[in-house]
Amino acid sequence: MFSLLCFFGLVAVTVAQKCPLQFDGRVPSSAALTSFDSSSSLFNPTYNLGANLKWSDVLLFPSVDASLFDANGTKAVEVTINDKSIFTPSATDAQTGFRRAELMPASNTGTDPSTTGIKTVHFSVMKDSTRPLNTSHEYQLFFLESSDYSTNQVVLKYGTIIGGNSGANPDSLFLVGNVNSNPVKTIYSARFTPSVWHNFGITIDFNKGTTQVYYSTNGDALKSTGAAVTNNVAGQGEYHFGILKKPTGGGSDITKSGFQEKGINEGVVFGGIFEEDSTGGCISLKP
Ligand SMILES: *[C@@H]1O[C@H](CO)[C@@H](O)[C@H](O)[C@H]1NC(C)=O
Ligand SMILES: *[C@@H]1O[C@H](CO)[C@@H](O)[C@H](O)[C@H]1NC(C)=O
Repeated sequence: MFSLLCFFGLVAVTVAQKCPLQFDGRVPSSAALTSFDSSSSLFNPTYNLGANLKWSDVLLFPSVDASLFDANGTKAVEVTINDKSIFTPSATDAQTGFRRAELMPASNTGTDPSTTGIKTVHFSVMKDSTRPLNTSHEYQLFFLESSDYSTNQVVLKYGTIIGGNSGANPDSLFLVGNVNSNPVKTIYSARFTPSVWHNFGITIDFNKGTTQVYYSTNGDALKSTGAAVTNNVAGQGEYHFGILKKPTGGGSDITKSGFQEKGINEGVVFGGIFEEDSTGGCISLKP
């Protein structure tokens, strides 16, 4: 009996856990860029990108090593922005203050179970040294935006954060809590070193109102960066993976004011996007 328990104990620590998937945005190695334009895309084919652009105009398949959770024949995808990346939700509402392109999982409607219970969002990011970001600006590379669009409950930021990270090296990834909280909590930060995959697992407990961040680089298993912190994650909403570049020197409505340099060509590589159900503490730290 004793040895049987030991046997099961050993199995539990050496085999990766399997948690139920909520959404899976891992891109099959055979996928073509045009698959992102179609209604069968893993992501919303029409949001969130510049007016009159298709995803196949915006995305690239870079030649990089597979990210941690792309171990089974799925591949990285790069999101790019340029001067045409002006999201125009209606004919009279062009977001000229922003340059943006963000992939949103197809099943994520704003009120679906991806924002209830206890969930862990996984993704990896890498710089493209040929399409650098500009540290003078604030970027959002991942965020959960509430279904009424009044806040972002969890955000991965980069660069010079407006009203924010004075003193911190702007060439860093900043994982912050609800942007309407005062002060906004920086839950974790790491230098955004080039040629390295930066892997995140973000456990959001929508029942308790907490957020816990797991992180690693390249092929290393995720590790907790600290205990779950209190964070207002109410309001459900949608997950965005990509680039939202904010202006410098904007006014009260930065969606339409401030400065954006012309002639930009910027990109960020993404891999291993998925969400799992972490009920009971289930989390995949490695594939
Ligand atoms: C960075 O952005 C600022 C403000 O938009 C711009 O003046 C500057 O030329 C940019 N730098 C680079 C290296 O592109
Ligand atoms: C890849 O496949 C193996 C074997 O089926 C499985 O054990 C592992 O969990 C898979 N990894 C991912 C990331 O799905």
